[in-house]
Amino acid sequence: MNLFSSKLPIYHPQSVLKDYGKGDAFRIVDALCGVSYFGATGSGKTSSAKHLAIAYLAAGFGGLVLCAKKEERRQWEQWALETDRTKDLIIFEALGKHLFNFLGCEASRSGGGGGLSMNMVALVMAISSVITNSAGKSEGGGDSQFWEGSLEHLTTNLVDLMLLAGLPVSLLLMRSILNSAPQNIAQVNDPKWQENSVCAAILREADKNTSPGDEDKRADFEECRNYWLNEYPNLSEKTRSIITLTFSMLVRPFITRPLRRLFCTETTIQPESTFDGKIIIVDLPIQEYRLAGRVANIAWKQCFQAAVLRRMQPAQKDTYLRPVFLWADEAQNHVTKGDAEYQAVARSAGGCSIFLTQNRESYIRTLGDANTVDSLLGNLQTKFFCQNTGETNEWASKLLGERWLNITSTNASQGKHDHVHSTENTSHSTSVSRSDQKRFYVEPSVFTTLKRGGEINNFQVHAIVYKGGHLFAGPGTEKLPYKLLTFNQR
Ligand SMILES: Nc1ncnc2c1ncn2[C@@H]1O[C@H](COP(=O)(O)OP(=O)(O)OP(=O)(O)O)[C@@H](O)[C@H]1O
Ligand SMILES: [Mg+2]
Repeated sequence: MNLFSSKLPIYHPQSVLKDYGKGDAFRIVDALCGVSYFGATGSGKTSSAKHLAIAYLAAGFGGLVLCAKKEERRQWEQWALETDRTKDLIIFEALGKHLFNFLGCEASRSGGGGGLSMNMVALVMAISSVITNSAGKSEGGGDSQFWEGSLEHLTTNLVDLMLLAGLPVSLLLMRSILNSAPQNIAQVNDPKWQENSVCAAILREADKNTSPGDEDKRADFEECRNYWLNEYPNLSEKTRSIITLTFSMLVRPFITRPLRRLFCTETTIQPESTFDGKIIIVDLPIQEYRLAGRVANIAWKQCFQAAVLRRMQPAQKDTYLRPVFLWADEAQNHVTKGDAEYQAVARSAGGCSIFLTQNRESYIRTLGDANTVDSLLGNLQTKFFCQNTGETNEWASKLLGERWLNITSTNASQGKHDHVHSTENTSHSTSVSRSDQKRFYVEPSVFTTLKRGGEINNFQVHAIVYKGGHLFAGPGTEKLPYKLLTFNQR
């Protein structure tokens, strides 16, 4: 089937990816505005989201697939086969041929631009949020903001110091600087520390490298030196030990198997390959690789998002960027705070995110607060609801909205008098009343009974789709803010 038979230019936002009938369709613009899927375990999320995966592949999108479960790689290999995209698959796996030295790539890409340090710090912070979450620390509170702020400041100064000294950025070197940083002011002035510390040696290197030089660079160096020789040794013992421990935990997965070889040696594949139509599968599923899997997936996600945001719109008229998707099934494992911000601006850079999870609470558990989750979900505008229970159903009902319904109620009553042989004294009264009442378009209970696929449901999955206030064709001439879709698993 030619998805672009409408003669629109290739990747035109109005191109139909999936026709839902009666004039309703899922178009490229909908993919660009983000998609989220909800449904209980085994409710048919993955088997119904397949219709979008197939549509994205058939349309020639590039993409990054994050993996939580072992079977995801095999499933994408099958979907690629069905759409003749096998040649575009890149499997990033533990013993595979593809390597991605993400810090090296980020450093070489910048051309010395000021954004480099910011990108690298964002990357390190996203990874650290995953690690600290896994270590059981809660996010979102005032305290956690303080630790995050301190860690961010530390990371910025580590990255800046290496860049100012003209050294290649590496996690191992960052750890060495940190381990040899002064613990108090007396140490700063101690000739022994000055002689033996990696931190002191790199500070001297950065000093040489920036003087006499351009004034901006010199000012950056002064700031950095002030951090290492003044701020850092003056931090309280507790703050210093927590941020250095967090940093060590962050580095550890990258200096051990399997990530050391994959992320800290060479580069054979980069996120930008997706712009040419490659589909990168991060086959380090969390189910199998645990923390290393989470870290690997987040590192890829973060670098992919940064790459998409660097994309430039084509200058020629009627030319559109090839869309690239970010696919995250069991997305509660992959979400980080920056995702909402990314998706808010990714649209114009051709970035399409699609996140699948059980319920809204699963994102709150990961991200720590409802506001961050709602801002993410607000930026994933098309929502599919599969069978579910719990609070997500009420939330979904509210999202779909209410309408006035004219409700007719009848009330019948019978009064009986106590006359033994008489039937005539029985009185009946029936009343009919009409009133306008506000009711949900879809009551929360409806979501509990949607078809979940499998043999018992004749392999049918139901999903209710909502597209940010868009009206779909309903029965007759009625327009509704949702549509009930049926997907066949066979
Ligand atoms: N191709 C298929 N043929 C028949 N049954 C299937 C097929 N794919 C999935 N199923 C069954 O349909 C149901 C829904 O499966 P699916 O994997 O889509 O749900 P899910 O919501 O993604 O589940 P999970 O939360 O476990 O990821 C399950 O009972 C599953 O065993
Ligand atoms: Mg699934």
